[in-house]
Amino acid sequence: MTIPKKVKIVEVGPRDGLQNEKQSIDVATKVELIDRLSASGLPVIEAGAFVSPKWVPQMADTDKVLAGIKRYKGVSYPVLVPNVKGMEMALKAGVREIAVFGAASETFSQKNINCSIAESLDRFAPVIKTAKDNNIKVRGYVSCVMGCPYEGDIAPEKVAEVSKGLFDMGCYEISLGDTIGVGTVPKTKAMLDAVKPHIPVEHLAVHFHDTYGQALVNIYAALERGVSVIDSSVGGLGGCPYAKGASGNVATEDVIYMLHGLGIETGCDLGGLTDTARWIFQQLGRKPQSKLANTG
Ligand code: HMG
Ligand code: MG
Repeated sequence: MTIPKKVKIVEVGPRDGLQNEKQSIDVATKVELIDRLSASGLPVIEAGAFVSPKWVPQMADTDKVLAGIKRYKGVSYPVLVPNVKGMEMALKAGVREIAVFGAASETFSQKNINCSIAESLDRFAPVIKTAKDNNIKVRGYVSCVMGCPYEGDIAPEKVAEVSKGLFDMGCYEISLGDTIGVGTVPKTKAMLDAVKPHIPVEHLAVHFHDTYGQALVNIYAALERGVSVIDSSVGGLGGCPYAKGASGNVATEDVIYMLHGLGIETGCDLGGLTDTARWIFQQLGRKPQSKLANTG
């Protein structure tokens, strides 16, 4: 298959990145981050999560963040929603797109959302119904598609089964998450070869964390298989220096540098994004994780 000419970047830094920060980040900084990202031409910016504040305290102010951001025309600002309670909060906040999130690993599902995979799909059903009734788009995440911190290897067939379950329930796009960044090129190929017969490739996204530095090459392998939606986070935000195995998402600006080098269109302003990466890490008092933001 020839690689796509155009790729949609789904920026997950304000959610997947900031959810892992131990220090408190005020609403104004989160709003400024999202506004800067909007100005860089990104089509999708995940803005937060309506999850239990006991589980993820960093996302507790998602309603305030949504109230503060400028909504750019043509840009989507999805939020994570795990259950009916989260859906009610999303409706109140005027959200136009949500994401439900499941896993291909039973243990990870229990640790992350406190239920089995089957129970999670049952929980998502009324969420998706309410979303559809209100013309809200629903994305579906599957975590641990190439390995689980508790169970180790995950069978590609299991990834296909859960992905198909979410797609059949009405998710318009399935994001395949290498949650702990253990994927390699052969694993990426095997996983996509298992999923693709069940879901048209234009409805698939890849979501790599860069723990072992394999994210870009895995993305290239996914491009070769026709995937044209890539999740990433500005500056490689995410991960926790104290949590073993936790690393940020692949950095948006590094992904875009590679894509533009391949002649693939993204509509994004690489210079603006790199400046934003430097700015947010300055606010956090750390060095950016990306190659680009650390070059002159
Ligand atoms: P639970 O404890 O089983 O839920 O958690 P519960 O219904 O028994 O409720 C417990 C408490 O939470 C109650 O409060 C509820 O009101 C409250 P209390 O009465 O004790 O004061 N509550 C909520 N509050 C706000 N919003 C809600 C909500 N629901 C309940 N929506 C639950 C179950 C799913 C809520 C919990 O496990 C949870 O919030 N998990 C979220 C974990 C999370 O956000 N993880 C990170 C995102 S996933 C990810 O990063 C992977 C991804 O990036 C892809 C990849 O890399 O693989 C997407
Ligand atoms: Mg993630």
